Amino acid sequence: MVSTTQKTKETIKPHGGELINRQVKGQEREQLIEEAQSFPKLTLNPWSLSDLELIAIGGFSPLTGFLGEKDYVSVVENVRLENGLVWSIPITLPVTEEEANNYEIGSSIALYGEDDHLYGVLNLEEKYTYDKSKEAQNVYGTTDVDHPGVKRVYEKGNIYLAGPIQLVDRPKHDEFSDFHLDPSETRELFKELGWKTVVGFQTRNPVHRAHEYIQKIALESVDGLLLNPLVGETKSDDISAEIRMESYQVILKHYYPEERTRLVIYPAAMRYAGPREAILHALVRKNYGCTHFIVGRDHAGVGDYYGTYDAQELIAQYEDEIDIQIFKFEHAFFCTVCENMTTAKTCPHDKSKHVHLSGTKVREKLRNGEQLPKEFSRPEVADVLIKGLKQN
Ligand code: ADX
Repeated sequence: MVSTTQKTKETIKPHGGELINRQVKGQEREQLIEEAQSFPKLTLNPWSLSDLELIAIGGFSPLTGFLGEKDYVSVVENVRLENGLVWSIPITLPVTEEEANNYEIGSSIALYGEDDHLYGVLNLEEKYTYDKSKEAQNVYGTTDVDHPGVKRVYEKGNIYLAGPIQLVDRPKHDEFSDFHLDPSETRELFKELGWKTVVGFQTRNPVHRAHEYIQKIALESVDGLLLNPLVGETKSDDISAEIRMESYQVILKHYYPEERTRLVIYPAAMRYAGPREAILHALVRKNYGCTHFIVGRDHAGVGDYYGTYDAQELIAQYEDEIDIQIFKFEHAFFCTVCENMTTAKTCPHDKSKHVHLSGTKVREKLRNGEQLPKEFSRPEVADVLIKGLKQN
């Protein structure tokens, strides 16, 4: 286990040294909204809108806009921005060739959401084509279109628009407004709470016993836990963010110390890029002010595309540079002989004594209204999930 003394700086620096803020306020905002009426319009899908938001609020610091070609190529090929800074997932704005013809280099584009609300503006510096199979192979490790992230790569437009952005309105996330904090706000919060060391936890699932186990082991070594579930676009068979958010509140209330945990949404889209996405997830949590980040089994994985510990191995190569401490955990499970959560590192018993449930099995049980074994899920969590899935 990593000792806390390794990171007890007052506040951890954002990636690249400066927390980016591309939100325009007051008079400047009014003026930009006015000007944007005359700009050509582009409607962003929810994925691109969430990228716009993450850039603007500093979650993707040091990015100030959608990647230009040099940075894009460098990220895809070398896991770095052109200036050498580690960056693992290209943050890009795809459009079709036809759409791209509407926009001139050097001009501004008004960025709307599917709700026809103006969210921001892009100063168009570049338009470029890209190699989809290279992006798929390098970022996702496969060109198989059954992979949900790769499928998106092949579905999206052939041109990337690039340049700095400004945000005039933050997407609302009304249903989660109590848990909607920007990185600058979580940094303030940690200061107020007196947390010098904070472990960030990424998830796109309800918190089950293995999650709880690894979070609490980490929490033994740091001051606070930021439960930071991804609430942007996920694949259709993942449990919805609305149901999950209710389940997080329930598990925190019943099983976690209130003064040492906070729940904040991470409003990003899920890429399912496994190892590469683990690096992005860590960098983003550093920007939110976390000093530590958890990478367990098959982080951000899907199907059998990645080995159980591929994400841990890749992130280990960059750990010295990214300046956030990674807590790496073995696959955890409940052992009926130990009568405890455990891992192969600490449990000597045969596999037949371990409680394992696949995600598919869990969803099947919940949809049938069946309780989950208490060795797998806290009953209060299962109740929320059963109720939520019935209503869907
Ligand atoms: S995801 O965002 O990484 O896809 P998921 O909810 O599956 O979300 O996992 C959240 C975190 O918990 C990841 O770091 C993952 O590696 C870790 N994790 C999930 N299940 C286990 C487990 N049984 N044992 C150890 N780590 C786990």
